[in-house]
Amino acid sequence: MARAVDNLLYFWGTVSSFFLVLIFTMVLVFAIIYRRRSESERPRPITGSLKLELLWTSIPLFLVMIMFGWGAKVFYDLQTPPRETLNLYVVGKQWMWKIQHPEGNREINELHVPVGTPVKLQMTSEDVIHSFYVPAFRIKMDVVPGRYTTAWFEATKPGKYHLFCAEFCGTDHSRMVGSVYVMEPDEYQAWLVGDTGPALSMAEAGGQLFNRLSCHTCHSSESGSRGPDLAGIYGQPVSLISGETVIADEDYLRESILDPTAKIVAGYAPVMPTFRGQLNEEELLRLIAYIRSLSGLSNPEVRTEERTNTEQ
Ligand code: CUA
Repeated sequence: MARAVDNLLYFWGTVSSFFLVLIFTMVLVFAIIYRRRSESERPRPITGSLKLELLWTSIPLFLVMIMFGWGAKVFYDLQTPPRETLNLYVVGKQWMWKIQHPEGNREINELHVPVGTPVKLQMTSEDVIHSFYVPAFRIKMDVVPGRYTTAWFEATKPGKYHLFCAEFCGTDHSRMVGSVYVMEPDEYQAWLVGDTGPALSMAEAGGQLFNRLSCHTCHSSESGSRGPDLAGIYGQPVSLISGETVIADEDYLRESILDPTAKIVAGYAPVMPTFRGQLNEEELLRLIAYIRSLSGLSNPEVRTEERTNTEQ
């Protein structure tokens, strides 16, 4: 997105500079031309000019509408990831960035990604508001406790790039920095496997957690089970006892684990205990990865076809 963002900025800068120079030149020129030459000289004020008023209203209007339309397009593209992305998970914490790959790799203050692949980051915070900022990719997104925010980018050149926290978050805010390593796809695959590779993928680790917390004793496919069957639930509409329908996305699943009585599924009693305080944000992400895997949605969702909706 860097070129699109920069072009907009250049346009903005050019227009602004033009008027800056024009206005200051005219101030200077008029000051000289219309200076008072003698004590008896009296100014003859202009009383009004409709033509002039219309002109200097319509030209700026036209220019700012271009800026608005163009800016909205760039903003929208920055907010809309392509359908097929590699999904990575970021947890901000005083004062570090923790990143999980679906294959199970975990890193701190480092992010390894393949070049030429759209990457979507799903982010949350363990404590206060942070902001994930990679200037080279022109992305900056708040990382907020209690909810998921997303950002996406497609790195076009291998290399090492700065990663910053751009929201003051306490004593060591200025040290909450890291690096993004953009690698050739085969290098990235080699990095993922490493010497031995991670023992468990995110979904597998989530599955273990699911059993350890005994979630499976209530959430089973058997009839008469105390909790709804979670297989195939991800991304699907769920009917609630209140008559409403919600989509079982990450936010809904997270809320249901931490605050089970907030949205009770129709046909079930509010008997689930809360897991607030028992799970950190990384474990929540793994549990959700497991529930997603029950719908047959495997990660990474690396794109296979040419992207369509992000071409400029
Ligand atoms: Cu985290 Cu500033």
